[in-house]
Amino acid sequence: VFKASGLTVLPSILLLGPSGSGKTALLTLFERGTNAATHTSQSPIAVECSLPVGTTAASDKYRSTYDPTNQTHKKFLLIDTPGHGKLRHHALQNITNPKNLKGIIFLVDAATMSAGNGGLRQTADYLHDVLLVLQKRMTGGKAMKALKEVSVLIAANKMDLFTALPAALVKKSLESEITKVRASRSKGLLDSGIGMGEDVDDDKDDWLGETGSSEFKFSQMEEFDITVEVAGGNVTGGDGPGVDKWWKWVSERL
Ligand code: GTP
Ligand code: MG
Repeated sequence: VFKASGLTVLPSILLLGPSGSGKTALLTLFERGTNAATHTSQSPIAVECSLPVGTTAASDKYRSTYDPTNQTHKKFLLIDTPGHGKLRHHALQNITNPKNLKGIIFLVDAATMSAGNGGLRQTADYLHDVLLVLQKRMTGGKAMKALKEVSVLIAANKMDLFTALPAALVKKSLESEITKVRASRSKGLLDSGIGMGEDVDDDKDDWLGETGSSEFKFSQMEEFDITVEVAGGNVTGGDGPGVDKWWKWVSERL
């Protein structure tokens, strides 16, 4: 069967995360296999990438080694988005109108994740909003409703820097910071009078994760068929684990 990749909608992976976390750097590395200088992004871009040699896509796992489809590398579309607060609507548009979306990589700068660092709050704020959009996808458009399961990889980047928190601590820090974001958002709603006298269910809809829980945990997203994993890596710099875990995560979703 003749199948030009341009005629089919390639499986796509969406890159989200705050400004400076390394999204465009990762896109460059995944696309070209080498690093290059980046500038802060102003609009989303999509590039075609291929799984590297030796990585098998989940959908090809049971094919025979002699199957000719194994000779061509599995292709996918990687969508980079601007992390700046004022440009994030582009990013959210990409989640609310997904075309063959297979997963979301939320990149964080692990060197800005220590308590009291403004980077932690900013990152938690953005991640909270992304997860809430996904949680509320049943109230979104048709394409959103079609997203039965969603996989999110929190890629703790810049592990080459000695100031970077290990992945397990990045996870903990984000969970406790999202707990604070969630509390202040719900207080904000009460203070502004939004939801007063309306259906109580409306309020519940804006609460991320398990209703009534005092602490937010990523595992609370499972109830909404959202899987969240955290894995460390680094796009640039000689020392560090590199991007192997992230490649593996991508391959498991194609
Ligand atoms: P916006 O486009 O503004 O949303 O930012 P971005 O997430 O695309 O960030 P970008 O890829 O432009 O990277 C920001 C800076 O972080 C660049 O100077 C990168 O070289 C640097 N950077 C990216 N990954 C790493 C890493 O693993 N380690 C270190 N030390 N620096 C990195
Ligand atoms: Mg960028």
